[in-house]
Amino acid sequence: MTDSHDNLILAFESSADETSASVVKNGHIILSNIVATQIASHQRFGGIVPEVASRHHLEWIDRVTQEALMRAHITDPETQLSAVAATFGPGLVGSLLIGLMAGKTFAMVHNLPFIGVNHLAGHISAANFVKATVYPAMAIMVSGGHTELVWMAKENVFQIIGTTLDDAAGEAFDKVGRILGLKYPAGKEMQEMAQKGHADIHFPIAHTEADFDFSFSGLKSAVLNYVHHEKQLDRTINKNDVAASFQKAVIEAIIEKATLAIEKFQPQQLLLGGGVAANLALRCAVEDLAMKYQLVLTEAPIELSGDNAAMIGAAAFLAYKQKHFSGLDLNVDPSLNFTRM
Ligand code: KG4
Ligand code: ZN
Repeated sequence: MTDSHDNLILAFESSADETSASVVKNGHIILSNIVATQIASHQRFGGIVPEVASRHHLEWIDRVTQEALMRAHITDPETQLSAVAATFGPGLVGSLLIGLMAGKTFAMVHNLPFIGVNHLAGHISAANFVKATVYPAMAIMVSGGHTELVWMAKENVFQIIGTTLDDAAGEAFDKVGRILGLKYPAGKEMQEMAQKGHADIHFPIAHTEADFDFSFSGLKSAVLNYVHHEKQLDRTINKNDVAASFQKAVIEAIIEKATLAIEKFQPQQLLLGGGVAANLALRCAVEDLAMKYQLVLTEAPIELSGDNAAMIGAAAFLAYKQKHFSGLDLNVDPSLNFTRM
C-alpha cells in the first residue's frame, strides 16, 4: 500500500555487468528490483569486456524498466513517483551512460526531478533496507572495484577514511580465483572452497604507511608464488586450503584497519556493504568487531550486496529528503569517488 505521503523513486543501475531498475518506497521498502546479469557473457574472457557490457545494457534497460514499473504497479509515473535516480559513477563509461540516459530521459518525459547517485553511496545505503542509520557512522565498503572505510558524520555526507592503494578486495578474490582456475567472478566460489579448507598457509598482509589504507596486490602475488613453488616441487595444491588462507588474510586486513578507524573516530554505527559483503566469513568477523566495540551494525542483505538498482533508490532518497536534485546535463563520471577526510 502507498499513500500520498509516500515517496516512490524509480532507480537505475548500470555501472558494470548488471542492468537494473527498481522502485523504492521511502528509501527503505523495495516495491520492485529487477536485475539482469550479464556475467555469463563475460566469463569466457575472465572479466568484464566494456563493449560487450554496454551492448547488453542497451538491450536490457527497457525490459528491466518496464518490469520494475509493472511489479510496483506504477501506471502513472508522473503522479505516483516522486523522483527518478540513476548511477552516474564510478564504473565503465559506456555502461554508466545507458542507465544515466535512461534515468534522465524518464525524468524529463514524466516531469520528475532527477537524482544522480554515486554507486558507492548506493552500496552503503543497501544497509538502510535493514535499519535506519544513526550518525556518526562508519561504513566498510568492499566491492569488486573499491575497498573503503567511509565516514558519515551525518546523513548523505560520505568521506573516505582509508582506501586500497592497489587491488580492491573483490578484485583480489577474482584474481586469486583465476590463479586457482575458477570462473569470473570468483568470490562466491572462493568462499565455498574456503569453507572446506584449512587456513594454515601463511600469506602476508601488506602494511601500508597510512593507518587506514589497504593493499591487496602483494597478497595476490604471494598466492601466485606459492602456487608456482608447489608446482615446481611437483606437490599437489590443496585449493581449498589456499582459498581459506587467502580469505583469512583479506578479512584480517579489513578488520585490522577497521579496528584502528573505530578507535580513532568512534562511530555510533557500523555498516557493511558491497559485493564482498556477501562473504559469510567477513560478515562473522565484522559482527564480532561490532560486538567488541558495542556498535550497532547493519549489513547489506546478502541478496542486495551485489549491484542492484534498489540500493541506488535507497541512496537517492537521502538526497531527495534534502531536495538535492541533479540537472539533466549531469554527465557520467567513471572515476567518481568521495573526498578524503
Ligand atoms: O559490488 P559488486 O557487485 O560490483 C562492484 O561494484 O564491483 O562486487 C562484485 C565483487 C566481485 O569481485 C565478486 O567476486 C565479489 O564481489 N563477491 C564476493 C562474494 N560474492 C561476490 N567476494 C567474496 N565472497 C563472496 N561471497
Ligand atoms: Zn558495485
